[in-house]
Amino acid sequence: MLEVLASKRDGYPLISGHRGGAAYAPENTMAAFKKGKALGADLLELDVQLTRDGHLVIFHDDTLDRTTNGKGLLRERTLAELKELDAGSWFSPEFAGERIPTFEEVVEWATDVGMRLNVELKSGPYPAFDSTLAVKVVEVLEKYGRIDDCLCISFDHIWIAEVKRRAPGLACAINYTARLMDPIGVARAAGADILNVHQQFVSPDLAAAAHQAGLGLQCYCDNPEVAQLFTRMGIDFMDSDHPDVIKAAVRAIPREEVGSLSTSL
Ligand code: G3P
Ligand code: MG
Repeated sequence: MLEVLASKRDGYPLISGHRGGAAYAPENTMAAFKKGKALGADLLELDVQLTRDGHLVIFHDDTLDRTTNGKGLLRERTLAELKELDAGSWFSPEFAGERIPTFEEVVEWATDVGMRLNVELKSGPYPAFDSTLAVKVVEVLEKYGRIDDCLCISFDHIWIAEVKRRAPGLACAINYTARLMDPIGVARAAGADILNVHQQFVSPDLAAAAHQAGLGLQCYCDNPEVAQLFTRMGIDFMDSDHPDVIKAAVRAIPREEVGSLSTSL
């Protein structure tokens, strides 16, 4: 993955289907991952959480209410209970019967079809800070031989440090929403390879500082014009609900303009 990232710095950014391809299918379901792949996403982003009985499942919110026919906190349910839920009908009747996938189901499918994953370790709230989730994610990626070509991201930088301790070759990003005083130092503290910053804080200076330090720069972006601007700034990864639209937009930019925008504050 780090080699892919390095080569992409001379070319176009990698585009990751956010929650699979959340604009086109119910987020974080197999239908969304299949759609994201069909649309040409370079990676698929997904959110991993722990069930009450210690299984890894793919789900974004803390609660089941928005994207299933269930209610309440996901972490209070067993895998068997979660597998009963309909995770597709809220999006459209055509997706009725979609289930919450386990992490292993998605990794197995992604391995079969040759798809890279951008795995977000969903963190907190207190007291759910123990590193079981990080440890189990690494175990599954190791089992399927995916340490070298997947990415782990998290707002929990302590978990990222744990992932890097267990699997130094697994590319990792720290998520954050700030204009940090020392983003390179924060990345170094976690052993991370990539800054995954809220798009509000992307700048040419940040891209230059990241690249000078040997780090990549990533953000979420769903607006084609903004994605083109970020591409000119030299962003390496973008997560998008519309990976096809964003990929087409960035590839419409002449190659020589990629990373060409630089300013100094
Ligand atoms: O880069 C994507 C990451 O920031 C996603 O956040 O809240 O959609 O899981 P979220
Ligand atoms: Mg996410």
